[in-house]
Amino acid sequence: MLKGLLFDLDGVLTNSAKYHLSAWNNLANELGITLTDAQLDQLRGISRMDSLNMILKFGGQEDKYTEAEKEKFAAEKNAKFVEQIQKMTPEDILPGIPQLLKDAKAQNLKMAIASASKNAPTILNKLGIMDEFDGIVDPSTLHRGKPDPEIYVKAQELLDLKADEVISFEDAQAGVEAIKAADQFAVGIGDKELLKEADYIVASTAELKLSEIEEVFNKRK
Ligand code: BG6
Ligand code: MG
Repeated sequence: MLKGLLFDLDGVLTNSAKYHLSAWNNLANELGITLTDAQLDQLRGISRMDSLNMILKFGGQEDKYTEAEKEKFAAEKNAKFVEQIQKMTPEDILPGIPQLLKDAKAQNLKMAIASASKNAPTILNKLGIMDEFDGIVDPSTLHRGKPDPEIYVKAQELLDLKADEVISFEDAQAGVEAIKAADQFAVGIGDKELLKEADYIVASTAELKLSEIEEVFNKRK
């Protein structure tokens, strides 16, 4: 029986993913690395340092910098991102999400955030939806990032629920892989081909309807 919903944040509840990607793109350009759209897509859901390491690898620069230099690059990228999110308001909640949260509340479903972002609490406060959630996984406690299932298992445990009692929402390929590795029901938001492992896929959040997702969830094996 459905008892809870687990949400990624960037690209699911709000479009902060675009700020992450543009800040990474700027940093890559400064390092003389040109990223393709497909490479940028692969950064979705990936933790800060893992993202930087992926970018350096894409540019064939994986052994070029010391850990201290990499920390500096990551801090620069984060400073740009933090600057961008200051202007966020409740208007930045993606279409379909307010109704989804309302429908979930009406059914007394518990809700948690499974975001790799250390900026998630700031963003949730800016959006004015912090109090909607019963738990937020602290990414600094994680040993492994998405696509490892750890973050989704932790989110489910925060709500005291089992894998077959939750539906989890993601826009990232690595995130959908993490949900499936955690044995949970995955809703993918975005490209059908990239997110093909998901149990239910929509092109955008505007298409999310809890009753329709639940129908598929209830029929699953
Ligand atoms: C994820 C984003 O939610 O958080 C990634 O999809 C980002 O793009 C990751 O790298 C870490 O975020 P932060 O804010 O801690 O650098
Ligand atoms: Mg995301």
